[in-house]
Amino acid sequence: MSKLRIEGGRRLSGELKLQGAKNSALPILAATLLGEGVSVIHNCPDLTDIAAAVKILEYLGCKVVREGDTLTVDARQITQCTIPENLMREMRSSIVFLGAMLSRTRKAKICMPGGCELGPRPIDLHLEALKKLGATITSDHGYLDCKVEKGLEGGKISLLFPSVGATENILLASCMAKGRTVIHNAAQEPEIVDLASYLNGRGAKIRGAGKSRIVVDGVEHLDSAEHTVMPDRIVAATYLCAGAITGGEILLREVRPCDLESIFPIFEKMGMHLRMTESEVLLKPPTDGKIRSVNAIRTMPHPGFPTDAQAPIMAVLSVAEGTSMFVENIFESRYKHAQELNRMGADIKVEGRVAVCTGVDALYGTEVQAEDLRGGAALVLAGLRAEGITQVNDIHHIDRGYESIETVLDSLGANIVRIA
Ligand code: EPZ
Repeated sequence: MSKLRIEGGRRLSGELKLQGAKNSALPILAATLLGEGVSVIHNCPDLTDIAAAVKILEYLGCKVVREGDTLTVDARQITQCTIPENLMREMRSSIVFLGAMLSRTRKAKICMPGGCELGPRPIDLHLEALKKLGATITSDHGYLDCKVEKGLEGGKISLLFPSVGATENILLASCMAKGRTVIHNAAQEPEIVDLASYLNGRGAKIRGAGKSRIVVDGVEHLDSAEHTVMPDRIVAATYLCAGAITGGEILLREVRPCDLESIFPIFEKMGMHLRMTESEVLLKPPTDGKIRSVNAIRTMPHPGFPTDAQAPIMAVLSVAEGTSMFVENIFESRYKHAQELNRMGADIKVEGRVAVCTGVDALYGTEVQAEDLRGGAALVLAGLRAEGITQVNDIHHIDRGYESIETVLDSLGANIVRIA
């Protein structure tokens, strides 16, 4: 298992172009299955989760070619309607293939998806919604056997929670269903808007993406199309944190500041200075070099503070002046990084969904374990600040969402190497 070795204490400064958004590219890749077309997807990040999605598409019969950050998916021939367990388990978003397959082949056999261990992560909202659109779903030896006898039909779906994945699955299943689908309490994340923009670019009729009520009028045909994936807002937040925790200046290019509206106030409360244009964000450290604590950070569905930014921000606040409190309202168990940060000298107390982080003067390098994607990134950030050498193990978690994190951080001045 590869590791990252970081020698901390350096100020990170410089500029970087942001990678495409993993959590937008993944549902869009699943959506390429819809209709018999060819999709050209630009700004597709080179990540292990993307590679897993490509393996699923190829297993189902698609031809996929990568040229740089462009993936061309030819979905004109689909030969399978089962996704093998090893492919389903590689990531969470494999569940979003279900809606696309039911629309395309009218049947699908899948097992529970994989992904970061952040709590139980059930798929009840997905399955209830697909049943409302006409699917019959039975479980058979750990597999879900899903069928749509007469084709998917539009309907009214009210989500008990604005689940990102469930909203995506409904969009994929409804855009070629018969009639109208109305989603109440839909997820409003920017990635939903990007998925709808790709589908509408192919001729779908989706209105209201990005709001809590989405209306989909089913169409009979989807054209081939090109689409450019939005920049990754969570990767953006992570690299701004690299500047914040080391006292450096970071300029992000090709970013969408509007996607970071709920994160900027936290950087400003920490004492950072932010300047932004249409497509750039510049972060400068506090004038006196002191990171301020933030008394309460509550993760919420968009447009609230995103749960994926909780761990990177916690790394920065672990060396703030004063005490900060987190409330993790989205996932039941998303503080595994806290115990590893404490092994580096942080002072973080976790009680259920609450974490109290009392800033310390220094962190110390040691060997730590990445347990999930964003928690692993938080450990790397802490290593950039820590005195001495930090070794982050199991960095395959990090490679799921960050394109060559060591190359990016090295370009900003970090002393970091990957050890195979
Ligand atoms: C997506 O996960 C993202 N993953 C996550 O990013 C992100 O943290 C999450 O949305 C919230 O924004 C991808 O897009 C691939 P949810 P998803 O369905 O779709 C519960 C990262 O680091 N729930 O909005 O799985 C669920 O247990 C990853 O990039 C049900 O109870 O998130 C959780 O508590 C981590 N039943 C809450 O809803 C369901 O059927 C939010 O889940 C579905 C979800």
